[in-house]
Amino acid sequence: MKPFLVAPSILSADFARLAEDIKAVEEAGADWLHVDVMDGHFVSNLTIGAPVVRALRACTKMPLDVHLMIENPEKYIADFISAGSDYITIHVEATKDVSKCLNLIRDSGKKSGITLRPSTPIEEILPFLNQVDLVLIMTVNPGFGGQAFMHDQVEKITRVRTEIEKNNLQILIEVDGGINSETAIECRDADVLVAGNYVFKNDYKKSIRALKAARGVS
Ligand code: DX5
Ligand code: ZN
Repeated sequence: MKPFLVAPSILSADFARLAEDIKAVEEAGADWLHVDVMDGHFVSNLTIGAPVVRALRACTKMPLDVHLMIENPEKYIADFISAGSDYITIHVEATKDVSKCLNLIRDSGKKSGITLRPSTPIEEILPFLNQVDLVLIMTVNPGFGGQAFMHDQVEKITRVRTEIEKNNLQILIEVDGGINSETAIECRDADVLVAGNYVFKNDYKKSIRALKAARGVS
């Protein structure tokens, strides 16, 4: 069976007690921690930056999966690398030089990821598959937690899976937005599911277990 990982998004955690929340999701069976970085330009919301990633690094051994929803990520990639990120994912729409950003990440020994808005055709990211370790398919418009899963994005997951298999690539597929125990079933071609509200607004252990059960993993 394919590995299947759950990455709770701290966007839905209690920011006043982040360290406790993170320990709790780790004990509840989370595999990675998903960190949503927003700049108020690429998306209308504003969240956190590299100093918070550095603080998180000190609180957990889970891989830190950093999703940059920021314009010109090349300006900040070095900060997120030195803060202790493991995966750094950039939006294809956010920079004029996607390859340069992916190389910056990989040259530092970190894992590179690419993602796209729901309105962006999947073809936009395909030229970069040989430069990434992870493809993130967004199933909501980036910017906010707690939105409804966009079913029409599922075909992008299948498309990327086909490309990976056809070209024998070592790439993880991650899905982000509106994930719960029902929508998880639709993401059968994904390796990693991000879940914000579904984990943090419910019992952590039960919801992580329900996601794994939806994918046939105990
Ligand atoms: C949205 C973020 C997501 C978000 C997911 O821009 O990228 O990671 O936190 O939250 P839920 O799981 O609540 O849709
Ligand atoms: Zn995200």
